[in-house]
This record gives sequence, C-alpha cells and structure tokens, in this order.
Amino acid sequence: MNIALPTPRIEHALHTDPAHERAALLQGLLQPAARIDSKYFYDNVGCELFTRICELDEYYPTRTEAAIFRSCAEDIAAALPSGAQWIDLGCGDCAKSRLWLEQIHASRLVGVDIAGEFLQSALTGLAACHPHLECIGVVSDFTQRLDLSQVIDERPDAPPVFFYPGSSIGNFTRPDALRLLRSIRSQCGTRGRLLICVDLLKPRDVLEAAYDDALGVTAEFNLNVLEVVNRELDADFSRERFSHRALFDSQHGRIEMHLVAQCDQDVRLSERNLRHFSEGEHVLTEYSHKYSTTEFGAMLAEAGFGRFEVWTDPKDWFGVFLAEPTA
Ligand code: AVJ
Repeated sequence: MNIALPTPRIEHALHTDPAHERAALLQGLLQPAARIDSKYFYDNVGCELFTRICELDEYYPTRTEAAIFRSCAEDIAAALPSGAQWIDLGCGDCAKSRLWLEQIHASRLVGVDIAGEFLQSALTGLAACHPHLECIGVVSDFTQRLDLSQVIDERPDAPPVFFYPGSSIGNFTRPDALRLLRSIRSQCGTRGRLLICVDLLKPRDVLEAAYDDALGVTAEFNLNVLEVVNRELDADFSRERFSHRALFDSQHGRIEMHLVAQCDQDVRLSERNLRHFSEGEHVLTEYSHKYSTTEFGAMLAEAGFGRFEVWTDPKDWFGVFLAEPTA
C-alpha cells in the first residue's frame, strides 16, 4: 500500500555563493590573527560530535534549557499567542519545536536552516505527525541575512513567534547579535513574539569545563574543523600539529575557542596560498558570548522589544526570554 505523505513547501533563500564563501574562509586564515568561522564546525562528523557534547556532564546548556522548558512549559505557553506562525531559526530536526507546536496550537511551522536536504526530511516527518500544521522550510543562512517576507503571512489571528533556542545567539559578537535581533523585530509586527534562549554568566571554572571536557569531545569537535577546511579549500592542515584551547575572556564576557599551533609549520591554505604558523600561534574558531539577564534585556529593548519575561533554572545558569515588541 502506498501512503502519500504531504510534501512540505521548501523555499530556497540561500543568498550565498560558494566561491565567495571560500574566499572569505581563506581571507580569515590569512589575517595576522587567523580565524575560522564557527559555521564550519558542522559537517557530518561535527554534527555527531556536537550531539555528543550536548550529552557531556560538563556541558550544562542543553540539559538546563530542556529542564526550564519542562518545568516552565505551562507558563511559557500561556504567554505565547495561540494559533501562531511558529518560526524555528536553525531548526535542524525540529525536535525542540515539537513541544510548543501542540501547546500553542500553532497554525504553521516555518523551519529555517542551512541544511536543505535534512530540512526536507525533518519537515516531512513533522507534517506526517501534524496533519493540520502547514509546514514550510526555508533553506537559508539567516546568520548572514534574515528575510522571511515571502513566507510570513500577515494574519492578525496568527502572529509570528520566532524561536531561537540553544543559546546560538552566543556565537555573534554583541553588535552582530543586536543586528539580528533588530532584523527579527522588523519582521514580527507588533503582535509577534521572540522566544530566545541565552547562556548566562557564571563562574569561570564551570564555563571553561563546559568547553574543555575531560573526555576530549570538545577538543575533537574543534580540531575537526581543520578537516572541514582541508576539504573546502584543498588545504593541508594536520590536526596533530594543533591543540584545543578554550578560555573565558571576562572583559568581553565570552568563551573563546582556539586552535593553538604546537610547532612552527607552513600550511598550504589553497592551491596558491601558503601560511606560516609559529609555535603557540592561535586560530580563533568560536565565540560563545554569555550575558546577564539585565544585559540581555537591555539588548532586547535596544532592538525594539520593550518588554520581556525570563525563566531561568535554580542556579541562574541559563535564561529563556520571551520578548514582546514595543508598540
Ligand atoms: C551551538 C553555539 C550554542 O556555544 O555552546 C559547544 C557550540 N561549541 N561547544 C555553544 C559549542 C563548543 C554551542 N552553540
């Protein structure tokens, strides 16, 4: 017997050009202070490693977020508009959205993610479980540019709710985070909402352990980015010659992950580019910014979200913010 599953609508809004992306990656590596954008972590191996990170004893964000969702689900759902257009930014397999879709009787789900094929199958699965939910996928790198004008309907009975979990906002510098919040604000109308999860400031030893675990999974995750770069650029980094470093920079309120050259070495970056790394030289691979609830609330206000509620865990390690536009 053939069972026809509804096919979700998929929009391609990937305003990126592979040659341009490669040029930017190469540019970053040629800077005096070399860097690799953290989006390069997530090839298949990197995604697997990230899943393992989320299960580590030291990595508290994932389980703390889940605990807040569980214990405050009713309060959060009560504060959300019912029948909303639910917009999941970086939806992956949509696992985190499922809980809310039912709670608030969402009318449609807009899943935004850079991984197109994965998105298609995730939404097909979701649509099969929720026959009354209209599922739309948008293949986009929203960290570069968020434009959902083609997808969000202006329906007073179904305001948009933007959902940005996982503390992924931490990857942005503060000015870039503000830009993204403003862009969300400009697309959510006055009745829309933003449900965003943010990792909070806490003692340095807890933060540093979360990004440098005893099993070395985060080190693996960090070093794996060199394999990704090798493939992207045809470079010849050797991971044995670099080591993982995670440090909390209290001045900037952020964890920084670096790869540190273990010896003097020349690395071919591409067909035409060679770069020397001296022993001890750093390649920056990730920022993970940490906020106080006050600071993040002020940032929301600056972006045009004048009111917010926040739910935290008993230790105040992680915050779930529900932001409302200033009318
Ligand atoms: C996916 C960006 C939220 O910053 O905690 C985990 C990525 N890097 N361990 C984070 C990450 C190292 C993670 N985010």
